[in-house]
Amino acid sequence: MKLCVALDLSSAKENLDLAKVLKSEDIWLKVGLRSFIRDGKPLLEELRAINPNFKLFLDLKVYDIPNTMADAAESMAGLGVDMFNVHASSGKKAMTMVMDRLSGIENPPIVLAVTALTSFDEPSFEAIYGESIDKKATQFAKDAYESGLNGVVCSVFESQLIKSNTTQNFLTLTPGIRPFGESAGDQKRVADLDTAKKEMSDFIVIGRPIYQSNDPLGVIKKIIKNI
Ligand code: C5P
Repeated sequence: MKLCVALDLSSAKENLDLAKVLKSEDIWLKVGLRSFIRDGKPLLEELRAINPNFKLFLDLKVYDIPNTMADAAESMAGLGVDMFNVHASSGKKAMTMVMDRLSGIENPPIVLAVTALTSFDEPSFEAIYGESIDKKATQFAKDAYESGLNGVVCSVFESQLIKSNTTQNFLTLTPGIRPFGESAGDQKRVADLDTAKKEMSDFIVIGRPIYQSNDPLGVIKKIIKNI
């Protein structure tokens, strides 16, 4: 299980300062909407300058028509990131076109599909998708698997279910982790480290419990010791 730290802070400087504190750790860094829209490609370059071994996950959750998604996938791969994601609800045609577009690239990034956001509870999810989270997330995961993607973003609670409906090697990346029972914030389906381990999560994403702590490095070391 790998730890992926969400760089969701309110300025590039704060994100870079956090990365500097964590620079000797074997971790992934997640650059999401807030940070990438504001700071773009230079932020990725500055993170690599801090530690060339940092693995970078660009979390833009792309959702559009198939051709636009394939174009975006090519652009994201061109940024040299190690992983990016798209929405599974964009459909199999779009996801297949994304993977086709990456097929000629040497060392292409890992591509994940977002199933159900961890901020949904059952009623709010069903109001949009008309089905339970388990059922729809499993269907989305099968679509992503059949389209050639490497894995999905899901909550810890769907991780094992998705692997048993695809393959054990199909990656699951799980946000909504509160390692030692910290506050959930806007997340609805949260789990601690032991549950993430039991449910065979491949990547855990943790943001606020790390960057809102007075001792982010201490928290990370404690997490790494426990995974
Ligand atoms: O602060 P916290 O640990 O809740 O951060 C979780 C991170 O994971 C945020 O950057 C959020 O955008 C992202 N994320 C999520 N749920 C998903 C996909 C990504 O919470 N399904």
